[in-house]
Amino acid sequence: MSLPEGVERRPFDGSESLATDGEAVYGEPTVDDWRRWDHRRSKLGAMLETGMDTGLEGGETVLYLGAAAGTTVSHVADFAGPTYAVEFAARPARDLLDAAEPRENLFPLLKDARKPETYAHVVEPVDVLVQDVATRGQAKVALANRQFLRDDGRLLLAVKARSEDVARDPDEVFDEVLEALEEGYEVLETRSLEPFHDDHLGVVARPE
Ligand SMILES: C[S@@+](CC[C@H](N)C(=O)[O-])C[C@H]1O[C@@H](n2cnc3c(N)ncnc32)[C@H](O)[C@@H]1O
Repeated sequence: MSLPEGVERRPFDGSESLATDGEAVYGEPTVDDWRRWDHRRSKLGAMLETGMDTGLEGGETVLYLGAAAGTTVSHVADFAGPTYAVEFAARPARDLLDAAEPRENLFPLLKDARKPETYAHVVEPVDVLVQDVATRGQAKVALANRQFLRDDGRLLLAVKARSEDVARDPDEVFDEVLEALEEGYEVLETRSLEPFHDDHLGVVARPE
């Protein structure tokens, strides 16, 4: 599967890895201004690494839910257009501000992704909704934020089974989340993100 423009495979310490061109954020190695995108620390990175058809081309407008300290969303901002990064925990959001400092297209929003009405006045229609919130009700969050997605846009979702229910079989949880998603999305592709992320499912979907 082709990588978006602005994402390349480059050698770091003798082995090839995904990389984007931008300032380092989490102590990752850099070579010639390119920073290694560690797919073991990034669900979206793992979706690209495992060859999922994300539809990403580069330059898209992005709404990213669950930005944490900015590990993944900083790579996204390196190859995307305007990138709105929602995170509700104050501690990681401080680091997210640092990641945004050298990136004029990265807009951190200290908001709750379950309450899109609190940022609807700031976020423009987007081509891509990336979600990695690792919380109960992941389908509900994706549905609540569907309003921002253009008709031909894509949802790139990482579902963490344990966040829904630690005790249940992950496959059952995935089925339940996918069924709930159908209320507003057509699922195009799913793939396990193991061995990079235990009990995580990568999902590509489009609004319907
Ligand atoms: C697995 S971490 C995200 C890691 C990040 N996506 C990355 O790859 O760099 C999940 C994050 O989602 C945030 N989160 C969970 N529920 C949220 C909500 N309702 N609104 C905003 N952020 C939320 C958590 O605070 C946490 O920082």
